[in-house]
Amino acid sequence: MSSPWKRRVEIGPHVLFEGDCLEILPTLGPVDAVVTDPPYGIAYAKGAGGRGKHSRRNHSQPLKGDDKPFNPSPFLRWPCILWGANHYAARLPHGRWLAWNKLGDLEPWDSFSDVEFAWQNERAADRIFSLLWKGICQAEKANGGERGHPTQKPIALMQWCLGFLPKAQTILDPFMGSGTTGVACVREGRRFVGCELDPGYFEIACERIEREMRQPRLDLPAPPKLEQEALL
Ligand SMILES: C[S@@+](CC[C@H](N)C(=O)[O-])C[C@H]1O[C@@H](n2cnc3c(N)ncnc32)[C@H](O)[C@@H]1O
Repeated sequence: MSSPWKRRVEIGPHVLFEGDCLEILPTLGPVDAVVTDPPYGIAYAKGAGGRGKHSRRNHSQPLKGDDKPFNPSPFLRWPCILWGANHYAARLPHGRWLAWNKLGDLEPWDSFSDVEFAWQNERAADRIFSLLWKGICQAEKANGGERGHPTQKPIALMQWCLGFLPKAQTILDPFMGSGTTGVACVREGRRFVGCELDPGYFEIACERIEREMRQPRLDLPAPPKLEQEALL
């Protein structure tokens, strides 16, 4: 029987699949939680990424899967955080809202939302995270300023999300795009499993996670202290 993915890439403990997550999901080992930014079902076609010198892709092509309503039900069996959930709230049970304030009142005339919402299947207080991210005004410049995906999320935002799932060791992002959740997992010491349908974004996700794995980590055990016998 053929595998449901086109490529399977291991980067340290992390595993990335190129293919349709709905086909890959039944073949996955155990995961503890889902953190994802799926296609919202809003027929997104033109993003802020544009075709500028910092962009490797033509971001004006339609986002895969965004032409039909998003069905969250396959993911609700795990503890999960789903971005864009205001677009499919009617298909969600009771949960809490996480809001990202993009501090967009600096540019109130533009066409970008000032706030984005995620939903978590947990009955707890709603929370808000503030980080500047409007048009060219971004508090975080990932990839040395290159935007890997037209709807790329800030790494710090996804790290904030992981803080609401403190016991989850293995995190699944079935719609990983350029792999931002994966980079956040590397930074937070979680294991990451990701799926992406688009080969170009899959490639970018692999590169970003590999690059993040090469970064020296501040939380590595301190090297043993040198004996100072010579001074005695
Ligand atoms: C909103 S984007 C995620 C962007 C991501 N948050 C980032 O920071 O780069 C959703 C992604 O899901 C992918 N996608 C759509 N349908 C899919 C499917 N059935 N399986 C896997 N990936 C899919 C799209 O190609 C798109 O890159």
